[in-house]
Amino acid sequence: MRAAMLHGNGHLDSVRMGEIDAPTMGKDEILVRVRAAAINPADLKVVSGTDGGAFLHAQNFPTAFGFLAYSRSTRQGSFADLVVVTPDTVGDKPPNISHEEAAAAATAGSTALQALEDKGRLRSGHKVLVNGASGGVGSYAVQIASQLGAEVWGTASTAKADFVKSLGAARVIDYKTTPLANIDGKFDVVLDAASRSSFGEVSSILQPGGAPELFSISDLASEFDITHRTIRFYESKGLLTPHRLNGARIYSRRDRARLHIIVRAKGLGYTLDEAKGYLDLYGQPGERRIKQLEFSVAKSEQVIAELEAKRRQIDEKIEEVRLINQICKRKIAAKKRSKNGTRAV
Ligand SMILES: NC(=O)c1ccc[n+]([C@@H]2O[C@H](COP(=O)([O-])OP(=O)(O)OC[C@H]3O[C@@H](n4cnc5c(N)ncnc54)[C@H](OP(=O)(O)O)[C@@H]3O)[C@@H](O)[C@H]2O)c1
Repeated sequence: MRAAMLHGNGHLDSVRMGEIDAPTMGKDEILVRVRAAAINPADLKVVSGTDGGAFLHAQNFPTAFGFLAYSRSTRQGSFADLVVVTPDTVGDKPPNISHEEAAAAATAGSTALQALEDKGRLRSGHKVLVNGASGGVGSYAVQIASQLGAEVWGTASTAKADFVKSLGAARVIDYKTTPLANIDGKFDVVLDAASRSSFGEVSSILQPGGAPELFSISDLASEFDITHRTIRFYESKGLLTPHRLNGARIYSRRDRARLHIIVRAKGLGYTLDEAKGYLDLYGQPGERRIKQLEFSVAKSEQVIAELEAKRRQIDEKIEEVRLINQICKRKIAAKKRSKNGTRAV
């Protein structure tokens, strides 16, 4: 089949059309005939070879190009006649848009949707700021947020202000003249679709109160009364998995919940390995919630069975030791009786 092949990291001219074997479907997978595929910033990272950890499919060259953000089943890219994906990564194309439009919308649109709905938990009546509102992700975010009933403010260059307003923004601020932290307003959700801000800048324009989704290392250190070094140590042991935002560590609610368990377990005298055992009951980051819960059920049933087996062993041991204890006591009593008897004689 035909595929756009990446021959090595570097520039876009490392991508050339070629032929490769068609992929074969595994169990619970779907074979897709590709009608259109779109280039996104992630593809340029794949080509350049930067952020390699996140874009692993481009390790062996040549490889079919095209970042498949949500396919764990194949390392092959989407710029090919055929591609294999898992069912949880596909959706229906609305009939009123072309394949090209659907391909162009998928990555940037789903990024905006996931950021606002899944992470930001944006609701009707919320006030949201989209930083980089005129860009690929930002322009979808403005439309999605206003459809969800939020009041949307956006930042963009002045030349694109009218475009951003036409998407549904109530106010557009020029990022060149007004830094994020100087924006005159407080927001329930801030989406930095420009990837330019620091966590501190964003925090300063968030509404106080509510349940924050993200935490800095200082937030967690002061909440749990531990040092930054301790938190970094837990990270080095793989117990916490913060994201990096412009060099700073950003922790999720999951990290915070895990840290809570670690701190409590340590306080009760458990070792780090024992605390890790409990954390392992909660599944892996990135897994879907149902899968994670199913994993927790299976794992906890296994732990319960192991503990019950141990309890049976302990009960048996207690009985044995109790028996030895009673025999010893009886022997002591008998010895004492016979000693007293001897004296009496
Ligand atoms: N596109 C995707 O599918 C996708 C998916 C996942 C993640 N991402 C990530 O999301 C980020 C944005 O991607 P994109 O495709 O939306 O980029 P993009 O189309 O180039 O848009 C960038 C936006 O940032 C604005 N901007 C530029 N410099 C800025 C600054 N100094 N301060 C504030 N805003 C600034 C731009 O405004 P003007 O144009 O008005 O100057 C524009 O609105 C990237 O880090 C990308 O890797 C993108």
